[in-house]
Amino acid sequence: MSMLGVIGGTGALDLFESGASGNSTTRWGQASAAPVQIDLGAMKAWFLARHGRPHRIPPHRIDYRANIAALKALGVRHIIALNAVGAVSPELEAGALVLPDQLIDYTWGRVHTFSDDAQAPLEHIEFADPFAGPTRSGLLAAASAADVDLLEGGCYGVTQGPRLETAAEVARLAADGCTLVGMTAMPEAALAREAGLDYASLCVVANPGAGLEDEPISIDEIHRVLQRAMQRVVALLQRFSPESLA
Ligand code: HPA
Repeated sequence: MSMLGVIGGTGALDLFESGASGNSTTRWGQASAAPVQIDLGAMKAWFLARHGRPHRIPPHRIDYRANIAALKALGVRHIIALNAVGAVSPELEAGALVLPDQLIDYTWGRVHTFSDDAQAPLEHIEFADPFAGPTRSGLLAAASAADVDLLEGGCYGVTQGPRLETAAEVARLAADGCTLVGMTAMPEAALAREAGLDYASLCVVANPGAGLEDEPISIDEIHRVLQRAMQRVVALLQRFSPESLA
C-alpha cells in the first residue's frame, strides 16, 4: 500500500488531529509548513497546509515544488488536494463538492517545473488528463460510502489571484469551458505529475463566481460556506479506503 498525502487549502487547516511532523526542508526550498501525520480512519496520511500555518502565504507565493518534494520525501505517492473554488457554472451551488477532470492554467510567473537546472534535466510530461488515476477513483468510492454528494467532472480554471475575478473574466472562463475557478491547482497538479505522484483535486465550491449574482461576493460568506462544507469533506476522507491505492 502506498502513502497518501492531503494538501489542505483555504478553510482546511484544522480538519484532523495531527501527530508526528515530517521535514519541511527540501532541496527546492521550504514547504509551506511541516507535513503532519493524520488519521483517516482506515489509514494514516500526511497533511500539508498549502498556505502555511497560520494561513498566510498567497497562492502566487506558495513554493509548490517544495510542498510536493516534502510529501514525496515522506513516501507519499498519491495526493488529494483540497481546493476552495468559485462556481463558473450557474447551476453549481455554494457548498457543492466537485471532482474536476480537467483544468486550464491562467496563472503566470509561478515557478512551475522541476526541470529547471542541471541536476533536474528537462523532462516533458504527458498531462492530457491532469486529474486521473486511483486517487480520483478512490474519492468517488469514498463519497458513495460516506453518502456525501460529490459531482464528478468539471474544468478548473486556475487564476492568479489573490484577488477574485471580474465578471468579464468569469464570462470568459465559461466561454473557455471552465466550470470552476480557483487559484491553487496549478502548478501543483503538474509538479505532482513531474514527480511521478498521482494527484486528484477535491473542490469545495465557496461562492458563485463574479457576476453570476447581483450582489458582490462576500469574503466572510466564503469562509462560512467552507467551514460548513468541511464536515462533509472530513466524512468523505474518513471513508477513503487504502485498497483504492493498492
Ligand atoms: N475565484 C477564485 N478563487 C476562489 C473563488 C473565486 O471566486 N472562490 C474561492 N476561491
